[in-house]
Amino acid sequence: MSLVKSSSTDSANAFILIKQKTLSNNLNGILCKSLVFVTLILYLVYFFLSNHPCCQSSLLLFQRRIKSKQYYYNKTSHISPTNISHIVFGIAGSSNTWGNKKWYIHSWWKPNITRGYLFLDRTPNEHLPWPSSSPPFKISDDNSRYALYNKHGMPFAIRMLRVIEETFNVEHSPGVRWYVMADDDTVLLIDNLVDVLSMYDHRKYYYVGMNSECLVSNFGMSFQMAFGGAGYALSYPLAQAVAKNMDTCIKRYPFLYGSDHILQACIADLGVTITLENGFHQIDLRRDISGFLSAHPQSPFLSLHHLDLVAPIFPLMNHHEAVNHLMTAARVDQSRLLQQSTCYLTKYNWTFSVSWGYSINIYEKIHSPSFLERPLETFSEWRKGARPPYMFNVRQLTNDSCEIPHVLFFDAVDGTRLDHIVTRYTKRTPRAMTACGSSGNHSADDVSKIRVFSPMHKLHVGAGNRRECCDVVQPIGMDSMAIKLRTCMTHEIIA
Ligand SMILES: *[C@@H]1O[C@H](CO)[C@@H](O)[C@H](O)[C@H]1NC(C)=O
Ligand SMILES: *[C@@H]1O[C@H](CO)[C@@H](O)[C@H](O)[C@H]1NC(C)=O
Ligand SMILES: *[C@@H]1O[C@H](CO)[C@@H](O)[C@H](O)[C@H]1NC(C)=O
Ligand SMILES: *[C@@H]1O[C@H](CO)[C@@H](O)[C@H](O)[C@H]1NC(C)=O
Ligand SMILES: *[C@@H]1O[C@H](CO)[C@@H](O)[C@H](O)[C@H]1NC(C)=O
Ligand SMILES: *[C@@H]1O[C@H](CO)[C@@H](O)[C@H](O)[C@H]1NC(C)=O
Repeated sequence: MSLVKSSSTDSANAFILIKQKTLSNNLNGILCKSLVFVTLILYLVYFFLSNHPCCQSSLLLFQRRIKSKQYYYNKTSHISPTNISHIVFGIAGSSNTWGNKKWYIHSWWKPNITRGYLFLDRTPNEHLPWPSSSPPFKISDDNSRYALYNKHGMPFAIRMLRVIEETFNVEHSPGVRWYVMADDDTVLLIDNLVDVLSMYDHRKYYYVGMNSECLVSNFGMSFQMAFGGAGYALSYPLAQAVAKNMDTCIKRYPFLYGSDHILQACIADLGVTITLENGFHQIDLRRDISGFLSAHPQSPFLSLHHLDLVAPIFPLMNHHEAVNHLMTAARVDQSRLLQQSTCYLTKYNWTFSVSWGYSINIYEKIHSPSFLERPLETFSEWRKGARPPYMFNVRQLTNDSCEIPHVLFFDAVDGTRLDHIVTRYTKRTPRAMTACGSSGNHSADDVSKIRVFSPMHKLHVGAGNRRECCDVVQPIGMDSMAIKLRTCMTHEIIA
């Protein structure tokens, strides 16, 4: 310590010497020297008599702080809450595949309400006349001048990257606060998206998105990268800076795979890092993702992707029907969609795990919330053999009937009753296992239908908020039970 100190003192002395030399060289003559002296005195007088913070009483300082806080409040209070009209969507698609993908976009796009464009590689002659229910399309600019830089595994990487620039160029009126980029097979939950984005100051530099569920994908690309299929948002100033630097950016990273990774590198060049939102889902998973959707992270549900590559999310439906079915619940209450609540029927040792608007899992044993928040591994890894396979803990499928639930899936919205929204869940296929022996052999085979009563107000989800609690009510007839969601009591534990 002392060594460092003395050497810095030495260099300080040397610096003063040099300074003095320069001064004496420059200010030859007594007149100049006295001028410097007078200036110094004047500065000292000003310093002590003015309102410089060092010389004020602490009370004055305190008042100043309060004032500046008020000023900040007044400056921000005139900003209206963010709504859907402040968001511009840029969707990357292709004419050849649009016919198969458009269902995903139509499931959330609201004509004349959602703003934005679908960027296609060529004029979609086979889809003309273009329906007003689809996002208006634009043809991507010619990218042949980048041919030298397009060494990517995905030949369309540069076209996809430039969707940001082209979206910004066609839509950048002062009313725009956010640019949300998505693929043509991304399903977005736009009410939740508005709620999430309104928590961030759109006048600052934000890159809001999420990693892949697949650990090795993040490891191979970057943990700082928002995976584009899940959708991500750029605040206005960041989108503008990215658009202005697009050319430099493309030429700088010809060795990176994929447009998302190039974008992340460019955003880092601007001194900005990712803000993770757990509700964006790239769905780098395979097979049946019902276990994942039944244990959604405690965060607003924002998107789904890759739905063509997994089983339909509801049994006995095709891919399109399944997405539209989820949207019938989303239209009633997006804030609760997929949010998990746990409650118990102690008389039978049963546990109910509700994923609102999607499923109810009944276990014939008492399981804690920390156990149930781990998804049941009904799915498999994106890359075969990748270890560890996921970014989260899972529960493995077993033949133990105490660990495997009876699954009831969302069936319909039954309207409202007693100031609650009523949703119905039914069992489509029997579990086909004997009852859990260790907790009393109480089989739930006969429970085929459950109604969930949820409050009519919006649920605040995510950091700083608790999950909702629930009660199992009217357990009279086994085949038709009810669950009531409610705010947890102040010190209530879920047990
Ligand atoms: C901020 O607004 C409050 C009332 O809304 C007002 O009393 C206060 O003087 C304002 N402060 C500034 C710095 O404008
Ligand atoms: C969104 O907010 C703006 C004010 O910034 C307002 O003029 C507009 O009517 C709002 N739009 C919707 C759809 O609520
Ligand atoms: C959107 O608005 C235009 C006029 O503003 C109208 O002609 C068109 O039918 C509307 N489209 C839909 C799907 O509501
Ligand atoms: C469960 O039992 C079946 C046969 O009844 C067997 O094929 C399967 O491998 C078992 N699964 C596990 C996870 O033990
Ligand atoms: C619940 O399970 C415990 C063992 O975990 C058992 O001792 C108890 O008798 C069971 N209760 C009922 C009502 O079956
Ligand atoms: C559950 O049933 C099995 C056989 O059907 C029996 O061996 C076991 O003792 C029962 N457990 C309880 C707690 O009743």
